Amino acid sequence: MKRLDDCFNLADFRDAARQRLPSALFHYIDGGADDELTVRSNTTAFDHYRLVPNYLRSISDITTDRTVFGCHVDWPVLLSPTGLNRAFNPSGEIAVARAAAEAGTTYALSGMGTTSIEEIGKATTAPKIFQLYLFNDDALNFALIDRCKAAGFNVLCLTVDCIAAGNRERDLRCGLTVPPTLNRRNLFGFTRHPLWCLRYAASERMTMPNIPTTDGNGSIGTLASYFAQKMEQNITWPAVEKLMRRWDGPFVIKGLQSVADARDAATAGVSGIIVSNHGGRQLGSAAPTIDLIADIADAVGDRLDVVMDGGIRRGTHVVKALAMGARACMIGRPYLYGLSAFGQPGVQRVLTLLRAEIRRTLALLGCASVDALGHSHIRLANQIPQFFTHAAGTNADALPPALLRSSA
Ligand code: GLV
Repeated sequence: MKRLDDCFNLADFRDAARQRLPSALFHYIDGGADDELTVRSNTTAFDHYRLVPNYLRSISDITTDRTVFGCHVDWPVLLSPTGLNRAFNPSGEIAVARAAAEAGTTYALSGMGTTSIEEIGKATTAPKIFQLYLFNDDALNFALIDRCKAAGFNVLCLTVDCIAAGNRERDLRCGLTVPPTLNRRNLFGFTRHPLWCLRYAASERMTMPNIPTTDGNGSIGTLASYFAQKMEQNITWPAVEKLMRRWDGPFVIKGLQSVADARDAATAGVSGIIVSNHGGRQLGSAAPTIDLIADIADAVGDRLDVVMDGGIRRGTHVVKALAMGARACMIGRPYLYGLSAFGQPGVQRVLTLLRAEIRRTLALLGCASVDALGHSHIRLANQIPQFFTHAAGTNADALPPALLRSSA
């Protein structure tokens, strides 16, 4: 079994979580839609971009702080909203929110969280985001918004990519239900982890305190059936405007992936967007977000905060996204692996390692600040040297237009 001090990078936490979690829960975190092309390529696509340093400049005082969606963060990685945290470790969302606050960054509570808006409101004084899934019931949406205001949340984030349930075949194979229940598909996976079972049985009963349950008994059945029954399938700009009016504070849309949608978001006056394909869990074959970020940031980055998530496992990944125009990045699975294996100390170490990698990358790039990052620090892995091409455009098919313009 991997121990906390055996974890030297984010991939080590995935191994540690796999060793400790019943398979239905590990695969819920780890899996994605269809053949998981997007899950994999969210990470592998970072390899298409390489870093170009500039030396002989002072890096003795590296600064990484930023303001994102109106919240000050000491370094530009925020914690993405993720569901069911107490199934992975009884300390659940509270542990994650506290680890984020301690690390000087911002936490987003998921509408599918297993801890109430009010408990998270009390858990830390750090800035907080609530991520809203839009229900097909206005009164319910407004009640959630009012609870977030009363609990002192700073940012409301509307997720728009769940208008249908993603096809998550690992969840079907493992018989995943919420809360977890034993059935013929997962019995073996749970019985192989008696320690998890004992801890789960000894902890307070897991509920979903921020959403209506389907049986009045704290259960929502399968995620797919829940999404199909309860979620609004027609999320339109007038609905967004209604929510913005009710919230009357920093408002962010998560799940946009096209320049056209990003422009519409800017026109609607939102404070920010999170370029995200839901970690490859919704639309099968969605493009890796790192391939989208330069064009979207180029189009609207001067009007709103453009943040991205998807596949980040290294400090170099964060630095590449920032160099291509992201204001900040977000991570989901990596902190869930840390939480699953080790509780709050696991989340803390994930954040500590990632932050150290970012600082090291900035130093080795010759950048004293995240604000000094730009397109000139990025080169395509297969880019033909200009010496051979002279004419910009030879490599046009492979290069996002925003990068092509800046390298011409
Ligand atoms: C919830 O947001 C999920 O992706 O399972």
